Amino acid sequence: MVSTSVASLRNVAEQVVLDRRHLHVHPELGFQERQTSRFIADRLRALGIETRTGIAETGVVGIIRGGRPGKTVLLRADIDALPIEEENDVPYRSTVPGVMHACGHDGHTAILLGTAQVLSERRANLRGNVVLAFQPCEEKPPGGAQAMIAQGVMDDPKVDAVFGLHLSQELPVGTVAARPGPIMAAADMFRLEIAGKGGHAARPHECVDAGLVAAQVMVALHALVAREVNPLDPAVITIGMIQAGTAPNIIPDRALLRGTTRTFDTELRERLARRIEEVATSVAAAMRATCVCTYEWGYPSVVNEAVSTAFVADIARSVVGEARLVERDQSMGGEDFAYFLQRAPGCFFNVGTRNEDRGLVWGHHHPRFDIDEAALPVGVEMFTRIVESYLRG
Ligand code: NI
Repeated sequence: MVSTSVASLRNVAEQVVLDRRHLHVHPELGFQERQTSRFIADRLRALGIETRTGIAETGVVGIIRGGRPGKTVLLRADIDALPIEEENDVPYRSTVPGVMHACGHDGHTAILLGTAQVLSERRANLRGNVVLAFQPCEEKPPGGAQAMIAQGVMDDPKVDAVFGLHLSQELPVGTVAARPGPIMAAADMFRLEIAGKGGHAARPHECVDAGLVAAQVMVALHALVAREVNPLDPAVITIGMIQAGTAPNIIPDRALLRGTTRTFDTELRERLARRIEEVATSVAAAMRATCVCTYEWGYPSVVNEAVSTAFVADIARSVVGEARLVERDQSMGGEDFAYFLQRAPGCFFNVGTRNEDRGLVWGHHHPRFDIDEAALPVGVEMFTRIVESYLRG
């Protein structure tokens, strides 16, 4: 599974595993990645890479300027962990109670550090620049990507293309997946506060039952995807939270519904947001109640540009072989790499980490999540070849 070219990077591969384990032992939540940030910056500076810290609070940016002028390519790694108590019994188990790298961002960070090492050694031969973006807080909107972009990470030097990867427990170790077009959904949240008139359960005619209004609103909202959205356009409305009432014999005066929408298409996304408010407020009004809708825009859809994706697929063929370049499904999950892709063409691809034989099968965000580290050098090789090939033109 390890190709000859990966073998040539074996010394880097060992370091990448050590780095990943170090980060796994010391996970930090979004915008609190202080030790992580220092670890990254120290490493970049030791490699002689121009380093900027405090970008979007805890983000770090390294800039490798090649020996000759040319284009600029940005590589991104997210560096945050999750509020999960680790259940793995491994030597590199998290030492922070209730915090764990359960999504593989420790691996992403280690891969980008390994890539930094390889590229810094070869910088004299590079025609152009590489921006290494270590991004805080991917897991929790509004996330760190927007803030990094607002602070100029794509402007100086001006970035021509962006690439990022996510390790994937859905794909076997040794595989890579790159799919063009929308691959991850826009993920928004909404909040519906319904106000009626409370009172005695035995005197409903004197009340406006906010609980019943909430139930009608909920049913009406589910009709949106079923009856107003083209069945060929993926969309989800989920209402995951319902709160109303304090006792069985009291009609509640208030109810709260909270939910999330997932879409790929921008027009559909905006239309659903508008229709959720229209339907919720109209249904409530029809039942003599009021409803206040707060719509929170989350990450937009991750859309891979076609030419960049074909380019990444070609690189994957050279790294893991044609048979290990696999298909991936679209996912209704969200990811703020979307913001980088809104500003420049590029591709967000997956590197497989699943190993059934070793029991490394638990999914992302699970307390037993763990990866096959043989995937890490594959990530380094992908990033390295992407940069070298892209800058060669
Ligand atoms: Ni993740």
